[in-house]
Amino acid sequence: METRVSAVVRPYRDRDLAALLQLWARIERAQSDTDLLTVDDGMDLLHVNGSICVVADDEGSISGLALGMAAGAIGWILRVVVAPEDSESDLTRRLLDELETRLTEIGVRKLIALVVHTKTIHAQLNERGYAEAGNALCMERSVPTSMAAPSALAELGGRIVEPGLWESLKGLKDAKEIIERRVILPLAEPQLAARHAVSSPSAVVLFGPPGTGKTTFAKGIASRVGWPFVEIRPSQLAAEGPERQAELLSQTFDRIFDLPSAVVFVDEVEDLASKRDEDRRVNTSVTNEFLKQIPRFHDVPHHLLTCATNWVSRLDPAFLRPGRFDYVLPVGPPDLEARASIWRRYVEEITNEKIDIDALVGASEFFTPADIEFAARKAAQRAFEREHFEGASNRAVMEEFLAAIEETRPTLSAAVVEEFNADTSRFARY
Ligand SMILES: Nc1ncnc2c1ncn2[C@@H]1O[C@H](COP(=O)(O)OP(=O)(O)OP(=O)(O)O)[C@@H](O)[C@H]1O
Ligand SMILES: [Mg+2]
Repeated sequence: METRVSAVVRPYRDRDLAALLQLWARIERAQSDTDLLTVDDGMDLLHVNGSICVVADDEGSISGLALGMAAGAIGWILRVVVAPEDSESDLTRRLLDELETRLTEIGVRKLIALVVHTKTIHAQLNERGYAEAGNALCMERSVPTSMAAPSALAELGGRIVEPGLWESLKGLKDAKEIIERRVILPLAEPQLAARHAVSSPSAVVLFGPPGTGKTTFAKGIASRVGWPFVEIRPSQLAAEGPERQAELLSQTFDRIFDLPSAVVFVDEVEDLASKRDEDRRVNTSVTNEFLKQIPRFHDVPHHLLTCATNWVSRLDPAFLRPGRFDYVLPVGPPDLEARASIWRRYVEEITNEKIDIDALVGASEFFTPADIEFAARKAAQRAFEREHFEGASNRAVMEEFLAAIEETRPTLSAAVVEEFNADTSRFARY
């Protein structure tokens, strides 16, 4: 077996979370059979008392993990994951070595492995003296939601965003670059960042016209860092009395800060922080509670607040100030190149006919990504109906795309773009 000298096996640290979830999700997708522990289960377990996780650190990227748990004198080995490219190496053995050592150090006297049956893991366990427990039976059942207390993340409506979303975001080059350099880099290079007293931001505001991708961008950040995405909607508290609203909001934040990490998203933040009281859709006590919570993001690592608005000029200037938000980022209309790649994405999905992408781009000036999606779906519907009613059996053609564009009212206009550009020079800060 080949030994990759570069991988160091060491205990898991909080900031490995993103890389670890990504590795786990990659393996999970690659496996056809179902796993005992899903990525979500793993994430829950990582932060439970008594759980022990060791990782293989391959020059900063995580190429393997072993997760176990001590319950009194019994040590459970629950998951051993190694990147496919390392499956032939001795990484599995080294991970098991480290995990067993750590479990026995805290008093474990018997080890039980409950892992997905692969050739490597079976051979490794045999080699270390594990034997099949003849009568043991492994079965699983999910507790029905009616019986189960939801996990902290589920209770908050949070979820893990699929890893590829960030890469699939088209355009938005500047905004993406800022996130790569100022959020991701300090997390990936903590020592270097500390040396220069650089810390990653804790709160950002995204602004731009409707449908330009603010929500998608916030989810994209979550997918890039690998932290769960949690959206809070203060306006949903409206049914409660004013005092109770503030209290509920504060409890929600307490629970969010108990999570190991999170990208917290607040959409339509003008409902909370408009200059004029009458433009707000929540009680003042809720606004005040929200303002009180923002600085906490500076103190709790691995939590990023992302607020979005279509109306940055309506926000109270005090709300936007640097002490509260590190950056105010424009998320603007897609340029030609971005429109072309968004069109390409839908065209590839909808048809195999020859489509002139440049012509679609030309015909869809002032379209947001959301408008493009709308028009593309319209074209698909047209083709579907044509085949159903008229029997012509080809997928959507150029004329159908053009007709769909014709029928779609663009969200943007010269005036909207001009206002966005003016807002950008007035409010953008990064
Ligand atoms: N940069 C992008 N690249 C590809 N697709 C995108 C991009 N931005 C947005 N989309 C798609 O456009 C649609 C609208 O995006 P999204 O909901 O994120 O916009 P928004 O700015 O949050 O809108 P609103 O202001 O109405 O809340 C989504 O279906 C999303 O997948
Ligand atoms: Mg949105």
